[in-house]
Amino acid sequence: MCGIIGYIGERNCIPILISGLKRLEYRGYDSAGIGVLSDAESVIVKKPGKVSSLEEKVELLNLSSNVGIGHTRWATHGLPNEINAHPHSNQNGTISLIHNGIIENYQTLKKGLQKLGYNFISETDSEVLPHLIDNFISRGHSLLKSVRLALSEVEGTYGIAVIYSGEPDKIVVARKGSPLIIGIGSDENFVASDVSAILAHTKQVVYLEDNEIAEVFRDHFNAKTISDDEIEKEVHEISMSLEEIDKGGYPHFMLKEIMEQPESVRNSMRGRILLEEGNVKLGGLAEVADRLAKSKRIIISACGTSWHAGLVGEYMIEQYAKIPTEVEYASEFRYRNPIINPDDSVFFISQSGETADTLAALKEAKNNGALALGICNVVGSSIARESIAGVYTHAGPEIGVASTKAFTSQLVVLALITLLISRKRGMSLEEGKKIAEELNSIPEKINLILSKNDEIKNIAEKYCNVKNFLYLGRGYNFPVALEGALKLKEISYIHAEGYPAAEMKHGPIALIDDNMPVVFIAPKDSIYDKVISNIEEVRARGGNIIAIVTEKDENMNRLVDHSIKIPDTIPMLMPILASIPLQLLAYHIAVKKGLNVDQPRNLAKSVTVE
Ligand code: F6R
Repeated sequence: MCGIIGYIGERNCIPILISGLKRLEYRGYDSAGIGVLSDAESVIVKKPGKVSSLEEKVELLNLSSNVGIGHTRWATHGLPNEINAHPHSNQNGTISLIHNGIIENYQTLKKGLQKLGYNFISETDSEVLPHLIDNFISRGHSLLKSVRLALSEVEGTYGIAVIYSGEPDKIVVARKGSPLIIGIGSDENFVASDVSAILAHTKQVVYLEDNEIAEVFRDHFNAKTISDDEIEKEVHEISMSLEEIDKGGYPHFMLKEIMEQPESVRNSMRGRILLEEGNVKLGGLAEVADRLAKSKRIIISACGTSWHAGLVGEYMIEQYAKIPTEVEYASEFRYRNPIINPDDSVFFISQSGETADTLAALKEAKNNGALALGICNVVGSSIARESIAGVYTHAGPEIGVASTKAFTSQLVVLALITLLISRKRGMSLEEGKKIAEELNSIPEKINLILSKNDEIKNIAEKYCNVKNFLYLGRGYNFPVALEGALKLKEISYIHAEGYPAAEMKHGPIALIDDNMPVVFIAPKDSIYDKVISNIEEVRARGGNIIAIVTEKDENMNRLVDHSIKIPDTIPMLMPILASIPLQLLAYHIAVKKGLNVDQPRNLAKSVTVE
């Protein structure tokens, strides 16, 4: 969601904060601000819009400071304007505070503080924090203790960084439900919500856990729990390089990430496939694999694109492992008192590993004694750390807000897990080998699809002015239809819906006329003929048809306006291939419309609030 960066050391922090904010901009980007201590005076500079606007404003002020914090915001409470941007401050301006998360009881806290004479200027929930801290400081407590006491009154989630002109040698940070890391440098230290913000300066990081607080000085840090117990923190080495999170010559991260998929899915499989044994090795599940295979039921919980991957997972697991599987939105799962039994296994899928609903659902499942497993992309993320066991997708950093390569890697990992469980439950060596071989051939097949980029771009250009799109698929390709529609709507702002193709005649068919493009995912599989009937129904009503078909399908050309041919594979893996032309279609439509594909409006890469 929002992004946090902070610096304390001997260098001027301004360029470090601005470049860190630019790296974080993909997380939240409706306004930005910095707070620094200059000659022990607090200075706050804020600006609505992009970090580049803030940068221009800061340059005019000629500021210099050795300690500061910066924030890029994705609005939850209050409009994205200058007043609501962070840092927020107390009345006399001595405290600057940035906050990710949501203070749920802020109205109550605000009323109490107003009674004590505190004035509020913003519409945000976050503004209660500097006033609350001020209230404790004015009673003679240190900054650290005041932050601790203030947070003990707060309900909700937070990742915060605070500086105070009365104690200019430190940044105080704390975390509950919103990621916060400390970057260790030499005679300088950093704080951030995301490693990408500080990777240019250090690869040594410390992850704060929920309910932990730390004082970060130039040359050391002290961490404690919010209830004041001493704790030892481990320093981790980040293996990701800065180049890995750059655009690499592509005009957008999204295109770069689509094009990276042969490599990213290969990385998801690397060292995990045992071709001769028709099996897989998943180190992260080794300890729990037998229990997993004996599960009476598997539940998969996630949000958005990751939820779509979960739907494909359901089809895979039920087809091969024959374990009843359910897929549920994490936001629903966490609040509806789901029945979870100790012999259930629950997978939580998340690219970021920080999605608030998924994380809360995971905790709920764990509390109910289920085997709670993570499928995450970001190493060391909260979901990865909270899970009992799990599998990393290893897709590499995904910066474009619309998930692309993370999705296909999630599908690969779900296929690997299916193979692992199924082989333990009686799948034959022969069948195991077939799936393993097919998986191995996927990267090459993706290359063939990517070589059709220009062809897909030409099709996209014809449809960039339409208002609605329908995506239809059946079986394994129904979730692909949902994902194709989501990709289009989130980056091109064209209304799009995905349906199981046969459902069309139960309602959506009423929408079809010659202004309605319909995308069919129609590979030659056991239900191909049924999909052809659905295509005929659309044709009869004048709809424009774009079909994703498998090579050698010559029949389709006469039925549809455009066909995009992709290589054949077994049905369980078809979603990996079929989703890629749909990613490219959405991308080119959005580019043609002149939209910011990497940072679509109202969206954030990591949804760390409910
Ligand atoms: C869509 C998209 C979102 C995410 C969702 C869950 O392109 O990116 O729908 O899939 O917000 O995010 P993660 O996977 O990080 O839990």
